[in-house]
Amino acid sequence: MSVTLGIDVGTSGTKTLAIDDRGRVLAASSAEYPCSHPKPGWSEQDPELWWTATKATVAGVLAKAKLKAEEVAAVGLSGQMHGSVFLDGDGAVVRPALLWNDQRTQAECVEIEERAGGRAALVGMVANRAITGFTAPKLLWVRRHEPALWSKVKQVLLPKDYIRYKLTGTYATEVSDASGTLLLDVAQRRWSRELLGKLELDAELLPTCYESPEVSGKVSALGASATGLRAGTPVVGGGGDQPSTAVGNGIVRPGVVSATMGTSGVVFAHAEKLGFDPEGRMQRGCHAVPGAWHAMGVVLAAGGSLQWFRDNLGRPEVEAAQACEVEPYELIMAQAQEVGVGAEGLFFLPYLTGERTPHFDSDAKACWIGLTVRHGRPHMIRAILEGVAFALRDSLELIREIGTPIEQIRISGGGARGPLWRQIQADVYGVDVHRLQSSEAAALGAGILAHVGAGSYAGVPEACDAMIHVADRTPLDPDAKAYYDRAYPIYRQLYQDLKTSFGDITALVSK
Ligand code: XUL
Repeated sequence: MSVTLGIDVGTSGTKTLAIDDRGRVLAASSAEYPCSHPKPGWSEQDPELWWTATKATVAGVLAKAKLKAEEVAAVGLSGQMHGSVFLDGDGAVVRPALLWNDQRTQAECVEIEERAGGRAALVGMVANRAITGFTAPKLLWVRRHEPALWSKVKQVLLPKDYIRYKLTGTYATEVSDASGTLLLDVAQRRWSRELLGKLELDAELLPTCYESPEVSGKVSALGASATGLRAGTPVVGGGGDQPSTAVGNGIVRPGVVSATMGTSGVVFAHAEKLGFDPEGRMQRGCHAVPGAWHAMGVVLAAGGSLQWFRDNLGRPEVEAAQACEVEPYELIMAQAQEVGVGAEGLFFLPYLTGERTPHFDSDAKACWIGLTVRHGRPHMIRAILEGVAFALRDSLELIREIGTPIEQIRISGGGARGPLWRQIQADVYGVDVHRLQSSEAAALGAGILAHVGAGSYAGVPEACDAMIHVADRTPLDPDAKAYYDRAYPIYRQLYQDLKTSFGDITALVSK
């Protein structure tokens, strides 16, 4: 039996798994840390927090699984994407990292599209439009607003790659996470010299770029004494958390697509060809499967919409739940169950924090539409569940439009936990939905990539076939599907009808 570690450096914490070559999780350990928001829309983290958490969780799994350091065949890394860690010439961090959900770079996004010669030209170079959370706009922001700090910056790393640097002493990344920097020539799977030139950024700032299962370095003596790992243990490229989650969900061949709901919702498809969409309506990138790409849609408030309901309107459920010692969500879901498909014509647009895919509109707002005296709380809850599923369907439709088939959808996260939301997803997506046995897909994906790098499997799809197991399937209900097929165009039109008003409301309150 061969064992690897999968380490996922997340936004709210780091999770480490010890995984054997049949996909069994031998031990898990996690450590949480905070995120700081020095100004509205800003989001930063001290990279030292990730390293402290990595040391603790690696030690945690080695102890729990009673593993000797020499029994770990390889380590794989996964991490929050798009963040930027700024290092000086000695490898010291010069300022807190700017994270994926930091929104300060709107002006730099406009500048990048201009310097590139327009949006379509930018998409032609790096396969993506400029998105505020991405890495390149952050570099331009620091260069403009913190020139003294910028002059010290000699290396820029993504979050998980900072952990690689602490473990191995090498500056390296891999293609799937590098795709989210906006600096990778995604088609050629190497840094875009062309865009770097247009942005006047030095290519020396960026690390060596590997394929995800490739060995990128070995644990150094320093890394070994800090973590308890054996010096010389191979560390594979790994993946950004979404591509890594996709590996953990077995999204490694055409036809199988994932829909994952945490606070945000992500639809992820494997693609054999990159293609070209001049508007860049989906996030495109290299997959963690060598020679393949991915298409990804991100809904900002998926599980977040239900959480908002619980926190702001769900006091009755929260109090009742305390009294009978159950989860408030159980009571919230039970109410939605009282109402039939379509919530008697009530719609919910889930744009509580603006929207990424497909609208890329930070002014978009959430709303219930269609309220009548017949509607009550149960309808409002059911409309949220349906509205979030419609929002994810928007990304599924884009995936179909770019010519990627959808034969099976694998769902995970909060949206996969209860039977009602699973059924709504099957019926709104129009495809049976499957759940997998493991719920820690990002760290699992990193561990699978490490097994491929260590030579246990010939490739990522072969490893997934052996290591990932479907737990259950929710078949779609044809009548409900037929209803949702009629309701979906109405849902889509509502955003178009309200778009101008959303902008007007933003202008109204910002004066
Ligand atoms: C993907 C994205 C997030 C982060 C943090 O584009 O922005 O999923 O990777 O998890």
